Amino acid sequence: MEGAVILLFGATGDLARRKLYPAIYSLYREGKLSDKFAVIGVARRSRTDEKFQDDVLESIREFARHKPESDETWSRFAEHFRYVSLDIHDVNAFKELRIVADGLDDRFGIGGNRLYYLALAPELFGDVSHNLKGGGLLDSEGWNRLVIEKPFGYDLASAEKLNEVIREVFREEDIYRIDHYLGKEMVQNIEVVRFTNAFFEPIWNNKYINNIQITLSETVGVEERGGYYDSAGALRDMGQNHMLQMVTMMAMEPPGVLHPEAVRDEKVKVLKSMRLYKDAADVRRNVVRGQYTSGSVKDKEVPGYRNEEKVNPESKTETYFAAKVYVDNFRWAGVPFYVRTGKRLPVKATEVVVEFKNVPDNVYLASKYSLQPNLLVFRVNPMEGIYVKFNAKAPGSDGAIQPVAMDFCQSSGVGINTPEAYERLLSDAIRGDSTYFTRWDEVSSAWRFVDVIADAWKESPDDLEFYRAGTWGPEGASKLLEAEGNRWWPVNGQRDEDTVRVCSEEAT
Ligand code: BG6
Repeated sequence: MEGAVILLFGATGDLARRKLYPAIYSLYREGKLSDKFAVIGVARRSRTDEKFQDDVLESIREFARHKPESDETWSRFAEHFRYVSLDIHDVNAFKELRIVADGLDDRFGIGGNRLYYLALAPELFGDVSHNLKGGGLLDSEGWNRLVIEKPFGYDLASAEKLNEVIREVFREEDIYRIDHYLGKEMVQNIEVVRFTNAFFEPIWNNKYINNIQITLSETVGVEERGGYYDSAGALRDMGQNHMLQMVTMMAMEPPGVLHPEAVRDEKVKVLKSMRLYKDAADVRRNVVRGQYTSGSVKDKEVPGYRNEEKVNPESKTETYFAAKVYVDNFRWAGVPFYVRTGKRLPVKATEVVVEFKNVPDNVYLASKYSLQPNLLVFRVNPMEGIYVKFNAKAPGSDGAIQPVAMDFCQSSGVGINTPEAYERLLSDAIRGDSTYFTRWDEVSSAWRFVDVIADAWKESPDDLEFYRAGTWGPEGASKLLEAEGNRWWPVNGQRDEDTVRVCSEEAT
């Protein structure tokens, strides 16, 4: 792989500590990062290189899949790390930063490639981009790529503005907008399973599929991010990005060629085919919003959302939403996609359930026994696997039917050894593969869909249902499906008890 100087803005922040340093180390240990690399941690606080390297070591010990085995392995890795404290608004400081980058470039023979990773508040993206240019960093002889974290704007208008300032400096093809769900193994696996299996692709349409359910459930509350979350809410925090990206992965057509732009073109088509709700009443019929009150999660008493730190005690921000979404194209006409996400739910689980239509129920065995629909489940997080539920004869009976399950466990426990999303995404950005990053037209189409909902909620902020922490969200979410004779299928750890299983590990 090519080398690069990675300039990490927000080097003392939580994301860097929990995800980025561990990812860089794992890539290095597995030989996926060339020796020709350097990391410059950039932040406002002053810090020596040694202290910075110690902090990186600590984060790797705590969060990485691989731990440094000896002092020697560690010091060989650590010498690639430098720290620069700077004021982001001061272009002269960027000139100095350039000198450090050039020095590391020469020392490790990197050839001028630079990856600017902004783990910063989006308000700062514009200034940083301009100062990178003003400070001469972009004059290096290699490539210059910008990696940015979500949230990309607050709505379409603010996202457009943000995009404009960044585009004054970087070309679209050099901008890598992170949606870490796209780096998850099982999200990427959706395409592979769909497009490489003769027994799925032919039935992947409205003739055979009754509905698709996407659940992103979390047990955590807002943790230390109350300030950000209270102005964002679940719709912007998880819906606009991760959730809609998963809808596109499930619904997209196979791309003509395996090229990043071709894949992203197909995803954009899905986003553009999503039915926009007509007005506030339409939103009310199809979208449910909730907020958690105090309760108990995993046997621990937890406070209600309004009592969380930095949250307005009268907040009407949603910590949960569920929606019925339609993709109005030839393949999906009439198939509801039910999506839901929430904080303080009973389990941590990201899963996609495909519920197939039943065989005709007036013939053969179905006339005698009640049949359950076939299900195909992608288990994304924290367990990874694929679950298929179908009907079979109950052994020893006169032909009674029982649902059975085949369960492929890619990982049968939390903390498994598949690469973390950030490893994959960092290495893709260095290789210049933007397939699993969101292009501007994806981001803008997603905002267009979300803005209609957010605007309706602004008009009627009291349309908020409350749910006790540790429960499956507001009642309205179940009613949304019941109205159509459907129900949410249980997710991770809560499988139907009547189903006979082959593989029994579950997340706890
Ligand atoms: C982030 C959200 O994008 O995703 C968080 O901002 C959320 O609120 C997190 O907790 C969930 O990610 P994961 O990978 O743990 O499912």
